[in-house]
Amino acid sequence: MAIVTINTVGKHEDQSVTICGWLTHKRSSGRIRFLVLRDGTGIIQATMIKGETDQQAIDLYPELTQESSLAVTGTVRRDQRAPGGYEILVAGIEVFQIAETYPIAPKEHGVGFLMDHRHLWLRSPRQRAILRIRHTVIDSARKFFDDQGFTLLDAPILTPSSCEGTTTLFETDYFGNRKAFLSQSGQLYMEAGAMAFGKVYCCGPTFRAEKSKTRRHLTEFWMIEPEIAFADLGTIMGLAEGLILAIVEAVLKTRQPELQILKRDVTKLEQIQPPFHVLRYDEALQILRDAGESIVWGQDFGGGHETMISNHFDKPVLIHRYPAETRAFYMKNDPDRPEVALCMDVLAPEGYGEIIGGGQREDVPDILEQKIQQAELPAEDFAWYVDLRRYGSVPHAGFGLGIERTVAWICGLEHVREAIPFPRLLDRLHP
Ligand code: 4AD
Ligand code: MG
Repeated sequence: MAIVTINTVGKHEDQSVTICGWLTHKRSSGRIRFLVLRDGTGIIQATMIKGETDQQAIDLYPELTQESSLAVTGTVRRDQRAPGGYEILVAGIEVFQIAETYPIAPKEHGVGFLMDHRHLWLRSPRQRAILRIRHTVIDSARKFFDDQGFTLLDAPILTPSSCEGTTTLFETDYFGNRKAFLSQSGQLYMEAGAMAFGKVYCCGPTFRAEKSKTRRHLTEFWMIEPEIAFADLGTIMGLAEGLILAIVEAVLKTRQPELQILKRDVTKLEQIQPPFHVLRYDEALQILRDAGESIVWGQDFGGGHETMISNHFDKPVLIHRYPAETRAFYMKNDPDRPEVALCMDVLAPEGYGEIIGGGQREDVPDILEQKIQQAELPAEDFAWYVDLRRYGSVPHAGFGLGIERTVAWICGLEHVREAIPFPRLLDRLHP
């Protein structure tokens, strides 16, 4: 017997097939019994009728609990009323396991309870829709870079030093000899890669021991980070716009059913068309002041500020040239205005805030060394990084796009915790 997946049953109309899946619910009406099965590719109704279905299978019906794992064999019938357009007329059932009482009932549960049962919650339609969109976000972002000749270069997770500030480092003991840290960003390694390959990117987990309990912060999150040699701030601002357009287009093209499950207002995503808004930090500051915020030049924007700015626009907005003081040591200062860095952030619309951060890198060895010293970072750990400026230094730039914040925006989620299979938060390391 051919085992088929639910999304392909249409190819087997009037044929006998076997579907392996889990029971989501069941009901009976008179002499007919219905089982609704899920196999990860879709859901299908399996109908049991006396006379047509094996009596053993019918006798099993009362024992079948939610999430029991089954192989159902029967004939595929077209039925316009059925969710996927087909149902299966059951001949027989084989049971893998009768499930114990499933903790997630179809009633409302609190987020804490659901997060404690994340390993099971993943089976719900909403969570599957979000994580399929996440797949498309990562996949389309990688394709965007692959199509432009970027080389995928994986960055290490265990690192000897910090790159995004020492206050958010996860520390671990490295064989009793020294400390190692979980990577905050692959960027420094991508800079080495750019000097070898020209254009590179990495895509992987990064870590911040941030004591922030906001809807935007995870302690473990994924970033895709391109880095380009012979490039400046303008180059990567254009690249960031192209990347976001490619991601939104791919999701709109291939994930309509998932967007529908999430009740996402797709018109908001369809509005994401070029050109994006481009503002200097100073102009963004003015927007905040006009809205009554008392914020002084030199201050970085907080989450609330970003929400205010991004609510102002119906498309992503690129903000560039933040005060150098607010940025990491590796940023190059604007030669025309040294108090600002050649950096940019992209804020997603609908109040979602920063999804991309990046900029042009300091490429002069002496200045970089000074900056490392000013940041009170150990010179010996960064000697290799300064080497990149000693042997054929070139202007270069790159950025990092946070996968979960992007997914949260595209899916219209309230919190990034649903945008990753197993979220790691200040107060959550389980399951
Ligand atoms: O702005 P960030 O800190 O930039 C960097 O790490 C650079 N080294 C990247 C580069 O230039 N290659 O982080 C980049 C993005 C943010 O815009 C945000 O989307 C995401 O990473 N991000 C987080 N996402 C979830 N939880 C957190 N705690 C995050 N911190 C940053
Ligand atoms: Mg940032």
